[in-house]
Parts: sequence; C-alpha cells; structure tokens
Amino acid sequence: MAVRGVNIKIEDLTHRYSSRSPVTFDKVNVEAQAGEALVIIGRSGCGKSTLLHIVAGLLGKTSGSVRLDDKEVTGPSSRWVMMFQAPHLFPWMKVSQNVGVGLSFAGWPEKKIRERVAEALALVHLEEYADNNVQDLSGGQQQRVALARSLVMEPELLLLDEPFSALDAFTRAALQRDVRSIGKELGINLVMVTHDIDEAVLMADRALVMAGAPGKIVHDLRVDLPDPRERQDPAVQATRSRLMQIFHDAAHAPSGSSSGSEADNGDPPATEPESVGIKQHV
Ligand SMILES: Nc1ncnc2c1ncn2[C@@H]1O[C@H](COP(=O)(O)OP(=O)(O)O)[C@@H](O)[C@H]1O
Ligand SMILES: [Mg+2]
Repeated sequence: MAVRGVNIKIEDLTHRYSSRSPVTFDKVNVEAQAGEALVIIGRSGCGKSTLLHIVAGLLGKTSGSVRLDDKEVTGPSSRWVMMFQAPHLFPWMKVSQNVGVGLSFAGWPEKKIRERVAEALALVHLEEYADNNVQDLSGGQQQRVALARSLVMEPELLLLDEPFSALDAFTRAALQRDVRSIGKELGINLVMVTHDIDEAVLMADRALVMAGAPGKIVHDLRVDLPDPRERQDPAVQATRSRLMQIFHDAAHAPSGSSSGSEADNGDPPATEPESVGIKQHV
C-alpha cells in the first residue's frame, strides 16, 4: 500500500447542537501535518466526539471550517474513516467478507478484493482468521477486523473515538502499539479521542488537551518519544506526569480561560506546541 497522509486545517470551528443548546465548543483551531498522530484528550462531555464527527463529515458544524489538503470536508468519504468503541461487524459474514465489504459495495472484482483483504489482515496480524466467523473472535480481534475493514479503503486519515476503552488492559496495549505503528508504516494521519492519559502518551505525536464549557483546545503537547513506547520507560513516565499536570491545571482553570499555547482572548491559538520527550535532548 502506498504511503499517504493529509494536511489537516481546522479553523475557528464552532458547534452547538441546536439554538437552545449551549455551545459545545468554540473556535477550535488545529493544524496537523501529513502523517501526524494527534490524540485529543479531555473529560467526558467536553465535546471530543462531536469534534471528531465533524472532522469525519458525519455531523454538521455551526461555523468555521475543516479542510483536508485544502479541501473543505462536507460529508463522509473513504479517504477518512472512523473507528468506534464497538466494532460494528456483520455477524453473518466471515472475517474476510467483513473486511472486504466496502470494496464489494464499490464493485471491485473478487480477485482484487481478495488481494487487498489479505494485505489488510496481515497489517492487523489476523491472516489466519480470514475464514473464521466474527462471533468466534475475541473483542480485541473484532476491533482488529474493524481496523482492517477501515484500512482496505486506503484512507489518508483514520479517526478513532475511544476505540479501545471496552478492551482488557493487555489487548488494549497491543492495539495501541499496533495502530500507531500501522499509521506510521502507511504514513496516514491519526486523530484519536480518549480520556486515558496513558493512551495519549503511548500513541500521540501531539496530545491536544480539550477542556472547558464550551470546550477549547487548551494545550498542545508534542510527544517526542521513540517507538515502540513502553509504559515503564522513564521518558514515557515523565511525559505522562507532564500531561497529567496539564490536564489537572486545565480542569481547575476558571471556565473560559486557558493555559498552554492558546491565547484566552478568543483569538485563534498560536499552535506552537510544547515539547517533551527525549529527542530534544539528543
Ligand atoms: N445529539 C446531541 N444533542 C444534544 N447535545 C448533545 C448531543 N450529543 C452530545 N451532546 C452534548 O454535547 C456535549 C459534548 O458531547 P460529546 O462530544 O459526546 O463529548 P465527549 O465525547 O467529550 O464526551 C455534552 O454536553 C453532550 O451532552
Ligand atoms: Mg465521546
């Protein structure tokens, strides 16, 4: 599969569910380079899923813009695909049929589908499960099938909404590592939402902290750590402490104010991220 990725530009993105609802988030500004892994971290209810759904073209915005390689997102596309907490597989189809379903709908010839499905199953380490029924797989394996189903479409951007939160700790750790390494191998962007600080440190090139009501991106932390990242590595733990502190400060800041790289006068933030990690020392 070819290396690919997309430049993301989110400008003054504002959302409210209805004219009587409070503003979900206000003037969110984020830029990302092709191939970057962004993790948006914040408390439940701060607007993370809403933001991700708008970036995916699954939900309309109130104002502002989301551009991918300078093209405004106006709806869903196979160039950006979303993974959810539940894998949403078709239980009557085999693993390979689930993975190839998008290509079948697109009218691809059988042989091409088989090749592409085999490639995607290899990426997620499920080659040997191609002919299994999906109900016979564990939760983690089902999430891998969902990941392979996304990857066959050769997306440039993978959007993930707390996709591992229902999994046990070991399964989650393996998927965190694999999804990051697949993203890097393919050169695609990840934008992932989580409330798990460890997950952010293990997976992000940049961790964006979202807080407040209405929500704002209050901090942008560049995570320069080598791969594969190990939880017990002192540099990983130092980054975790820093992010925990930022998170704590954000939660205790007066509503509407912000810390970190964003100005609190409503202007777009200077997205000059703070760096932690080890690369800055070498
Ligand atoms: N369909 C909806 N209609 C109205 N309000 C909603 C809807 N979905 C979410 N909200 C509200 O918008 C806010 C942000 O929700 P959400 O984006 O799901 O947050 P998060 O993913 O960070 O937990 C919450 O206050 C939530 O109650
Ligand atoms: Mg959510």
